[in-house]
Amino acid sequence: MSYIQLDQVTKRFGAVKAVDSLNLGIEQGECVAMLGPSGCGKTTTLRMVAGFEDLDDGEIRVGERIISSRRKRFYLPPENRNFGMVFQAFAVWPHLSVFENVAFPLRIRKLPKAEIEARTEEALRHTNLWAVADGSPDDLSGGGKQRVALARALAIRPDVMLLDEPLSSLDPHFREEMRFEIKDLQRRFGFSILYVTHDQSEAMALADRLMVMRLGVVQQVGTPLEIYGAPANRFVFEFIGLSSFLKVALRDGKMDVGGTAYAPPSPPPEALIAEGGAWLAARPNEISFTSEGGVGCVVERKAYLGEVIDYRVRVGDAEVRVQKTRRDPGPAVGEACGLIFERPRWYPLEG
Ligand SMILES: Nc1ncnc2c1ncn2[C@@H]1O[C@H](COP(=O)(O)OP(=O)(O)OP(=O)(O)O)[C@@H](O)[C@H]1O
Ligand SMILES: [Mg+2]
Repeated sequence: MSYIQLDQVTKRFGAVKAVDSLNLGIEQGECVAMLGPSGCGKTTTLRMVAGFEDLDDGEIRVGERIISSRRKRFYLPPENRNFGMVFQAFAVWPHLSVFENVAFPLRIRKLPKAEIEARTEEALRHTNLWAVADGSPDDLSGGGKQRVALARALAIRPDVMLLDEPLSSLDPHFREEMRFEIKDLQRRFGFSILYVTHDQSEAMALADRLMVMRLGVVQQVGTPLEIYGAPANRFVFEFIGLSSFLKVALRDGKMDVGGTAYAPPSPPPEALIAEGGAWLAARPNEISFTSEGGVGCVVERKAYLGEVIDYRVRVGDAEVRVQKTRRDPGPAVGEACGLIFERPRWYPLEG
């Protein structure tokens, strides 16, 4: 059993199932990032772990302790959960100094004065805020304010950090820097992290494992490599990374795309052949150009992105994204050629 365990966790808002029978285990010191489109239930999940939302079904445990259970009608209030929390909005109190912002939750907990001062100083030093401890958080940049929120969460010495898009209101430059800082603090303090983000590269950089959600339902949980390399379904494949989809007719082991017959290197599953059609999906770097055969296409756009050449290629009424390294000059704009799908993936037309 994992350190944090969510079992069959469910939350409804009226007719909406915001979170539907969610199971997730998080190990001690592990970072799990929740990813998914807007409204898929990420914040609701985090708020249930934090204790700001009750559960309509299921149970949440940390270590040996149940913290929320619908069946047992048990609910530990947030202030007794020892979780640190940082949200997207800069939740700092402008009328309090940076020091007092960080010390505040410790004062609420009525810790001894010396302990409050020691912990606050430690948290401020670890977040590079000690020099501005007496100043107002209003004089800090967005990154600085978010650091105050992080220091406040650290000072309580949390077992778990709950972070809901903590970096999304920061400039891209600060965002990347703060990623490293969060990772560094985690290593030093050893807490677990449940992290919500829209930003895939942030999730990939920070998390040991990702959880992809859609409409309140978990689609896949796995390492970034597993999610990217072996997506559980079409939704995950499309949501993570770049991809293209072609609607194909399947007949006699051949596929027909916009009038071109093509024999793919690996055949589609029998079930899809029986259906007579499927989606062919591919990553941009798993497609190559050929002057003979392949799926007929015309290059519409070609852009140099540093080391990579990015192509937009027309196949019938669909657009396919292809990426090649600079060393592989490839066809010119307007050129008709063929596409070879090196690693085709097949998904049913329905669903
Ligand atoms: N307090 C509430 N009352 C009614 N419906 C709610 C409430 N909170 C969330 N919802 C609904 O629950 C679903 C999940 O919302 P949630 O905020 O968890 O999504 P999210 O994944 O965090 O989205 P975003 O990426 O936009 O932050 C949505 O359909 C949302 O409208
Ligand atoms: Mg949210």
